[in-house]
Amino acid sequence: MKPINVGLLGIGTVGGGTFNVLKRNEEEITRRAGRPIRITTVADKNLELARSVTGGGVKLTDDAFAVVADPEIDIVVELIGGYGVAKDLVLKAIDNGKHVVTANKALLAVHGNEIFAAAQKKGVMVAFEAAVAGGIPIIKALREGLTANRIQWLAGIINGTTNFILSEMRDKGLPFAEVLKEAQALGYAEADPTFDIEGVDAAHKATIMSAMAFGIPMQFDKAYIEGITKLESADITYAEQLGYRIKLLGISRKRDNGVELRVHPTLIPEKRLIANVEGAMNAVLVQGDAVGATLYYGKGAGAEPTASAVIADLVDVTRLHTADPEHRVPHLAFQPDQVQDIAV
Ligand code: HSE
Repeated sequence: MKPINVGLLGIGTVGGGTFNVLKRNEEEITRRAGRPIRITTVADKNLELARSVTGGGVKLTDDAFAVVADPEIDIVVELIGGYGVAKDLVLKAIDNGKHVVTANKALLAVHGNEIFAAAQKKGVMVAFEAAVAGGIPIIKALREGLTANRIQWLAGIINGTTNFILSEMRDKGLPFAEVLKEAQALGYAEADPTFDIEGVDAAHKATIMSAMAFGIPMQFDKAYIEGITKLESADITYAEQLGYRIKLLGISRKRDNGVELRVHPTLIPEKRLIANVEGAMNAVLVQGDAVGATLYYGKGAGAEPTASAVIADLVDVTRLHTADPEHRVPHLAFQPDQVQDIAV
């Protein structure tokens, strides 16, 4: 089977996780994708780090633009983050006819309209499951599982760092700054953690979900955003005494006169499932007119949960969008000679 060649831009936390999971679960992933997915090139400014993570056998470069221009590369995975050079690279990759997989919520929330228009024009796919809620397949849920519905509203804990901070402050009485440092050490926080604690990261993700749920362009600049920096331990204690938990929620709701899009700390009655989402976990509630309320829960940050979403996109793109029809496989893919009986 002819492999799909992937160029990986950025071998930080998520890049490393992607490399490791692809290697560890190679057999299953190949079966589900219909052909091997091979990272052939890794671009990173830190070649030493790239060498130690990949352990050789992969082309290493500090020139990401050479990767997006490389005719051997079929899919570009952008894990650099931010909307500076990442935007130029993604647009160049699209222009060169490559499919793109990205975890970059900031880029999509702010420049997504331009990026998706360019991709549509070129007939390539930009896949972004990892951009929202880490390992939870919420993008696929909105795009596929709930596609028959008129979405009425969605609300979620979509920033692991702030949920971790609020949980640790409540459970252990630790000060904000100390817990933030811990979240950074655990690889949950953004390179600039202001984006986490000021609610900007959650607003990026809510913007993307809102665009998908309501069929509107990305409108990050219209979001109301309030983070958790003004919260004190006393607020958390008083909320608890009154039977509530404080959670940073991203909310989007269809109104008669438009769509609401906001991020702010919210008091939630402690009996609600979503009030009990602790640590770096994420949870998203989506209300559809046909299905009713649905809830998605899982790890919203970290190397392997996010890698799980990146690889899901790699499999999707490989299965559905590569030019070679004989390698397009159905969703339930098994090797006839490897069918095992269910143990009873
Ligand atoms: N900084 C983000 C978070 C990473 O804490 O949720 C995952 O998007």
